[in-house]
Formats: sequence, C-alpha cells, structure tokens
Amino acid sequence: MDSYTLSRVSRRTSAGGIVLDPAFLQAQTFLFNCFPARAQAIYSALSSRNTQLWTYKNGSLVGAAITSHPTAEEGELHFIGIAPELQSRGLGRFFYTALEAQAFSDRRKIIAVTATPAFFESLGFFDRSPPGQKKTERYMLKAL
Ligand SMILES: CC(C)(COP(=O)(O)OP(=O)(O)OC[C@H]1O[C@@H](n2cnc3c(N)ncnc32)[C@H](O)[C@@H]1OP(=O)(O)O)[C@@H](O)C(=O)NCCC(=O)NCCS
Repeated sequence: MDSYTLSRVSRRTSAGGIVLDPAFLQAQTFLFNCFPARAQAIYSALSSRNTQLWTYKNGSLVGAAITSHPTAEEGELHFIGIAPELQSRGLGRFFYTALEAQAFSDRRKIIAVTATPAFFESLGFFDRSPPGQKKTERYMLKAL
C-alpha cells in the first residue's frame, strides 16, 4: 500500500557554509528539475535562513516544497513540485494538504506567487493579483 511521508529537511552547514545534509541537496536538485528555469530563484530562497525545505516521500522522493513565515499571521509557499512523471494523479493536492496542516497550522492566511494559479484555486486559494500583474506571477491567497 502507498504510504506518503512529509518531512522537514534540516540545513546543517559546515563552519564554511557548505551544506552537509545529503537530503537537503537531493531535495534542492529535485526542485531544480521541477522548475528548470527557476534554479537561481530556488537557490536564493534556500540560502535564506527564513525558509524551510520540505519533502514528500513514498520510499523515494515524489515532491518538494519551500515555505516561509513572513509575519506571525502569514505563511508563504514559494515553490511546490511533484516529480514530472507522477503529476496529475492527485499527489500535488495530497502534498499541499499535508504541508498546510504541518507548516501552516498556526497561520491565518497563506500566500503563493505562482505561474500555475489553477492548481492553487483548486486548493481554495483566490487570485488577488493587482491589475496588470504578470501571468507568471499571480498573487494567490488562502484564508485559513
Ligand atoms: C503544480 C503541481 C505541484 C501539481 O501537482 P499534481 O500532482 O500534478 O496536481 P494534482 O494532480 O494533485 O491536481 C490537483 C488539482 O490541481 C489542478 N492542476 C494541477 N496542475 C495544474 C496545472 N498545471 N494547470 C492547471 N491545473 C492544474 C488539477 O487539475 C487538479 O484539480 P481538480 O482537483 O479540480 O481536478 C505539479 O504539476 C508540478 O510540480 N508542476 C511543476 C512545478 C509547478 O508549476 N509548481 C507550482 C507552482 S509553485
């Protein structure tokens, strides 16, 4: 039977700032593959101490995401990716639902800036982009 696990990946670094945790590097590479054109943005999000990296596994890695907590009330989902060969089978919804319960349990609203608003709308987000906002940077909001 399928059994999926959500985990937060630690970012242990050496004194010189080298990431020591293989799970972190594996999840980072996984996100690079899900977002081939966004490697720099992912790297920069993961370089911040204010972000958290998450994995979703069923034995092997099937999903990864980056979150943060910009204010005491808000959570932000920066990137969420499912392995390309496993997309469109409901896994993104399961992953997000688990993440919302664990990463954002004490938040009142969640923000996501995305090029895939339909995925977020199906999860209860509303598009609150200001007029003229780019299609690739829709500002999605969900109240909890
Ligand atoms: C977006 C992504 C995380 C969705 O995961 P998934 O496992 O494919 O999605 P699911 O099968 O769980 O679909 C959940 C819902 O979202 C919708 N959806 C998912 N991806 C969509 C897309 N690209 N465009 C439109 N709707 C989409 C599905 O139709 C489904 O809606 P429904 O429940 O009303 O039928 C995944 O496709 C992915 O990793 N894409 C590449 C990276 C990306 O664009 N991430 C999101 C921006 S941060």
